[in-house]
Amino acid sequence: MNQDQLKQMVAREALKHVVEDAVVGVGSGSTVNFFIDALATIKGRIEGAVAASEASAERLKKHGIRIFDLNSVNELPVYVDGADEVTEHLHMIKGGGGALTREKITAAVAKKFVCICDASKLVPVLGKFPLPLEVIPMARSYVGREMLRRGAHPELRQNFKTDNGNLVLDCRGLTLLDPPAMEAELNNIAGVVTNGIFARRPADVLLLAEAAGVRALGARLA
Ligand code: 5RP
Repeated sequence: MNQDQLKQMVAREALKHVVEDAVVGVGSGSTVNFFIDALATIKGRIEGAVAASEASAERLKKHGIRIFDLNSVNELPVYVDGADEVTEHLHMIKGGGGALTREKITAAVAKKFVCICDASKLVPVLGKFPLPLEVIPMARSYVGREMLRRGAHPELRQNFKTDNGNLVLDCRGLTLLDPPAMEAELNNIAGVVTNGIFARRPADVLLLAEAAGVRALGARLA
């Protein structure tokens, strides 16, 4: 099975967590694209979707799935998204696609966060994948210096603006032994909009695609 087939398999498995007649939260990335395509097969059984990126919104619309603004939705039973790295504690690094801020907001609202990945994303410790920070443009150099002070090597993502009009600094060289503490610390640097550690609100369920099938981890599998 190649990586795309694994992504497709786990995306289909996530349909079991979608709540009928409700709005579903949809993240972004290539694994989520497979989820959106799978969601289209049951579109008559959901009210619509909140999208965490413009790209996902476009794909959902093309399938004829109604898009809701997060502000118009009182509750979001389920949010489905991918990750760049994930641990067995269901802490994640996200933001490889640059949609981290809207993803973190949507995840915060959701009752259940279902993370969908192929097995290559499971790591013992977060940090090999460069940690993305969404940064207000005028704070780019200051935040870069703050990250250097913490032993990281920040790099400006070239020719890239987030959906919110901001920049992304990709930070190599961090070993994240205490992800919730580092997430809070980086949130406190002036000019950082969001950092890509998703640990204070971890996933509730991790669906992991392996050649043998989809393995589910987490306390809230139902
Ligand atoms: C985008 C994300 C994605 O979920 C993450 O990059 C994983 O993407 P893919 O499924 O393409 O590997 O956080 O901001």
